[in-house]
Amino acid sequence: MTQRRLEDISDRNLALELVRVTEAAAIAASRWIGRGNKNAADGAAVEAMRKAFDTVAIDGTVVIGEGEMDEAPMLFIGEKVGQGGPAMDIAVDPLEGTTITAKGGENALATLALAEHGNFLHAPDIYMEKIAVGGGLPDGVVSLDAPLSSNLKNLARAKGIDVAELMVCMLDRDRHAETIAKIREAGARITLISDGDVAGVIAVSQPFSGIDLYLGSGGAPEGVLSAAALRCIGGQCQGKLLFEDDIQIARARTMGITDPSRIYTITEMAKGDVMFAATGVTGGPMLRGVKREGAGAITHSIVMRSKSGTVRYVEAHHNFAKKNLGI
Ligand code: FBP
Repeated sequence: MTQRRLEDISDRNLALELVRVTEAAAIAASRWIGRGNKNAADGAAVEAMRKAFDTVAIDGTVVIGEGEMDEAPMLFIGEKVGQGGPAMDIAVDPLEGTTITAKGGENALATLALAEHGNFLHAPDIYMEKIAVGGGLPDGVVSLDAPLSSNLKNLARAKGIDVAELMVCMLDRDRHAETIAKIREAGARITLISDGDVAGVIAVSQPFSGIDLYLGSGGAPEGVLSAAALRCIGGQCQGKLLFEDDIQIARARTMGITDPSRIYTITEMAKGDVMFAATGVTGGPMLRGVKREGAGAITHSIVMRSKSGTVRYVEAHHNFAKKNLGI
């Protein structure tokens, strides 16, 4: 067997290993669904994800994480994870949708992405303006520097439908009021989500979701994770960091971001061979949530890789009596 083939096999195993990490985080967070305590839910997911990484054969560095070392006890930016192996950068969001989980809503995920060292944008924890469409469309069909009306017209034309048939997904936020009004004025429709824009962005690449376009501002770390997901499942996205002051700009400079007005393409946010995994904490159109029953739980996850383009849905039946997840 050649070295190349060995590499392929270990890469493949790695992609599946990642699901075990998101499963552990999702199961831990699921204890807190509907209990009104988003910090406890997040803390449980972080701790479980951190622990699960210990058995993954990588020399991992968290580049998108829970914050700086002084503000996050675990999975902080710069933290080393894994039991040793190839040097990989990791983007994590152990609980994407803390409020959703606390309120028992839809689409909370435990998620992470992995790439070779240096392949993720080191996005600070500020807002990012995002735009995303699914696969199979002409390059540049929508863009953050084009007027909204042109984006809607171009997208409708490329899809062979009327603007009135387009469904746009956005976070339901006051800061989006003007854009929401303009989209409706143009005749398109909007699905407003309460939280969880990683699932919102991925929805553009899932024909059954009915979502044609994702628009609006949300967390920049979530933007990088979404870009990683679209690299695997297909689609286009762009992101622009939204700086509030010079302090944020200066801090971003220390993370290698020199042009504060730059629009990042999908590959500038997540380049090379990227792997992405997510496990549903609460259910949604993409993934079922954790179902706890007796001494076990059933989880539903998605795992995918840009190199092969394979998208796998993994249903796992966990037996707590046999496998101590510590949760
Ligand atoms: P959390 O899981 O950290 O609560 O994030 C949820 C989320 O909705 C993200 O999906 C999104 O990017 C961000 O919050 C939007 O931020 P805001 O709630 O400030 O508009």
